[in-house]
Amino acid sequence: MKKIFALLLTLAMVLALAACGSQPANDPAPAPSDGGQTDTPAPAPAPENTKLVVGFAQIGQESGWRDAETNDVQWYAARNTDTVELHFADAQQKQENQIKAIRSFIEMGVDVIAFPPVVETGWEAVLTECQEAGIPVILVDRGIDANTDDGLYTTMIASDHVWAGEQAAIAMNDLLGGSGVVVELEGTVGASAAVQRKQGFDEYMAANCSGIEIAASQTGDFTRAQGKEVMESFLKTYDKIDGVFCHNDDMALGAIEAIKEAGLKPGVDIKIVGVDGVKGAFEAILAGEMNCTVECTPILANQIFDTAAKLKAGESVEKWVMSADEVYTADRVTEDVVAGRAY
Ligand code: AHR
Repeated sequence: MKKIFALLLTLAMVLALAACGSQPANDPAPAPSDGGQTDTPAPAPAPENTKLVVGFAQIGQESGWRDAETNDVQWYAARNTDTVELHFADAQQKQENQIKAIRSFIEMGVDVIAFPPVVETGWEAVLTECQEAGIPVILVDRGIDANTDDGLYTTMIASDHVWAGEQAAIAMNDLLGGSGVVVELEGTVGASAAVQRKQGFDEYMAANCSGIEIAASQTGDFTRAQGKEVMESFLKTYDKIDGVFCHNDDMALGAIEAIKEAGLKPGVDIKIVGVDGVKGAFEAILAGEMNCTVECTPILANQIFDTAAKLKAGESVEKWVMSADEVYTADRVTEDVVAGRAY
């Protein structure tokens, strides 16, 4: 009996040891990841956003030209919602609002930030933050101060504003036959588009047009209303004005109103050269009330989003993607040309 009991005990121990051996020795019990509620599955990781996410901090709505740029960017995004996610901010002409918008894009973790700098200076801090966050920056239609480290932005998609100023000077010189008194309506103080157009115009005049005097130059902030106001004051101050160079067409359209209200014929008594190539300027040229516009295209959305996609993919791009613009003197402007304009 004793023998049978010993045999049964040994068998029980062998079975118990065999049962222990079925569990790997180093496999600890699963650590509870949810405070001990091990029956709740861990949350699935958020799906990766495969869309191209772009933050665009627009200056505001100072001109018809700017509205055309905004529409182009928003229209592109609306047509491509399956591949593109646009976050758009309107800074209402204030640099501090553009900076706030850029910071919010950094916080969102967008793929690329694009913006037209309202003025040239004051971007170092926020661009450094973009760089630290690893977000590439595309400057659109305007640049930043040449003394700022150009490593702080990735690329610029814009017209050559110095060239535009020179072309305007060449056209004005031709219109005036080499002599006369000219006034200048400048864009937003400190904006690269204004600084460089002025540089191109004034330098060309100084070097090549000794018979033309630039009597006055004042900002009209790129708006039609201020263009009109400043032109009214020029007309009161100077007995004779032969030509006005406007840093954009919206100010030229304002100047046309002021000239008419002063009882003079715009485009005839006072020659008018603008920049941008907006439809209103083309219509004024057709009507004989304006003489020339130097194009500066706002239709940049394709380039902006193509470039952003390349940057997201880690490809390199040119530092300055320059727009191909043209000069439109009256002889080139027909009904068909005006009808075919995109903005
Ligand atoms: O930076 C481009 C300029 O900005 C355009 O010429 C003007 O119309 C706009 O306000």
